[in-house]
Amino acid sequence: MSNLKIFIAGHRGMVGSAVWRKLAAKGYTNLIGMGSKELDLRDQSAVNSFFKAEQPDVVIDAAARVGGILANNNYPYQFLMENLQIQNNLIDAALKENVAKFIFLGSSCIYPKLAPQPLKEEYLLTSSLEPTNEWYAIAKIAGVKACEAIRKQYGKDFVSLMPTNLYGPFDNFDYETSHVMPAMIRKFHDAKNSAQDEKTAPPVTLWGSGSPMREFLHVDDMADAVVFALENQLAEHLYNVGTGTDLSIKDLATLVQKTVGHLGEMVWDSSKPDGTPRKLMDVSKLQKEGWKYQIPLEEGIKETYAWFLTNQANFKQVKIDTL
Ligand SMILES: NC(=O)c1ccc[n+]([C@@H]2O[C@H](COP(=O)([O-])OP(=O)(O)OC[C@H]3O[C@@H](n4cnc5c(N)ncnc54)[C@H](OP(=O)(O)O)[C@@H]3O)[C@@H](O)[C@H]2O)c1
Repeated sequence: MSNLKIFIAGHRGMVGSAVWRKLAAKGYTNLIGMGSKELDLRDQSAVNSFFKAEQPDVVIDAAARVGGILANNNYPYQFLMENLQIQNNLIDAALKENVAKFIFLGSSCIYPKLAPQPLKEEYLLTSSLEPTNEWYAIAKIAGVKACEAIRKQYGKDFVSLMPTNLYGPFDNFDYETSHVMPAMIRKFHDAKNSAQDEKTAPPVTLWGSGSPMREFLHVDDMADAVVFALENQLAEHLYNVGTGTDLSIKDLATLVQKTVGHLGEMVWDSSKPDGTPRKLMDVSKLQKEGWKYQIPLEEGIKETYAWFLTNQANFKQVKIDTL
C-alpha cells in the first residue's frame, strides 16, 4: 500500500489506463487523472494551475497525440505541435512544483531510420529520421532531451522510457488513425463478419509489402516497466522497453488472421509506404537493471482479440481535430 500521489497524464489512453490498473492492483491508492476535456494539457496556464493545486509527488506522462503512418502523414502539424505542447507543459510544471519523479514515454521512432539493429539508446540523433513520422519523433526527442537536461542541471529523477510498438486492450481501432496491430484485427474481423459464411470471406488488403520487421509488446508489460521505473532509481536518463525479438509484418498478419479466424485471402498493397525496414529495440540496458517482458505475442494477440470482441460497441476510434 502506498500513498504516493501519482498523476497519470493520459490515464484514459491505452498505456495510461494499463499503468493505472497496475498501480491500483499494487496498492497505490493516491492516483490522479484528468481527461483532455477536463484539463487540456496543451493549455500551459491550466496545467500550471493544476500542478499548483494538486502538488503530485510523481508524474507519468502517457498523454500524447498518437497514431499510425497514415495519421502522421496527414496531420504533421498536430503530431509535432500537440506533442510538444503537452510534454513541455507537463515537464516544466513538474520542475517548478518540485515533482520528485517524472516518467516520460516516448517511442522507438525517435531513432534514425537506418540505424544499426537492434536499436541502442546511444543511436539517438546519429542520422536522419524516418520521414513518415519525423514530426512525432522530433517532438518526442525534445521531451527526452528536456528530461535529460533537468536531470543534468537539477539532479532530479526525470527518466524517459522508449516503448516499442504496443498493443492490447483499450487500443485505438479506427481505420484511419490506428497502429498496425489493431488495424489488422479490425480488418480481418470485419471481413470475416461481412461474409454469408466463413469460407466466402472477402480478401483483406494490408498496407505495404509485408516485409518490414517489427517488435510488439503487450501494454500490460509496458505498464509493468513503468512501475519498475517508478519503484527503482534508474542509473541513466533513457531506456528502451520491448521484447528484443521481432517478426515480419506478413508473419504478424498470419498470426492475427489465424486468431480472428478469417479464411479469405490476404492482399498486399505495395503502393502504400512500408516505413522503416526494421525497428528492433536493444532492451539489454533495462534488462540489466532487472526488468523483462512476460506476455508472449501469440497469447497477447488472443487476449486482445477477446477484448475487442467484448468491447465492439464502444472500442476507441480516434479522430483528429485539426484546429
Ligand atoms: N500505442 C503505441 O503503440 C505506443 C508505442 C510507443 C509509445 N507509445 C507512447 O505511449 C504514450 C501513450 O500512448 P497510448 O497508445 O496510450 O495513446 P492513446 O491511447 O491515444 O492515449 C493518449 C492519451 O493522451 C491524452 N491526451 C491527448 N491529447 C491530450 C490533451 N491535449 N490534453 C490532455 N490529454 C490528452 C488522451 O486523453 P483523452 O482520452 O482524455 O482524450 C489519451 O488518454 C504516448 O506517449 C505514446 O507516444 C505508444
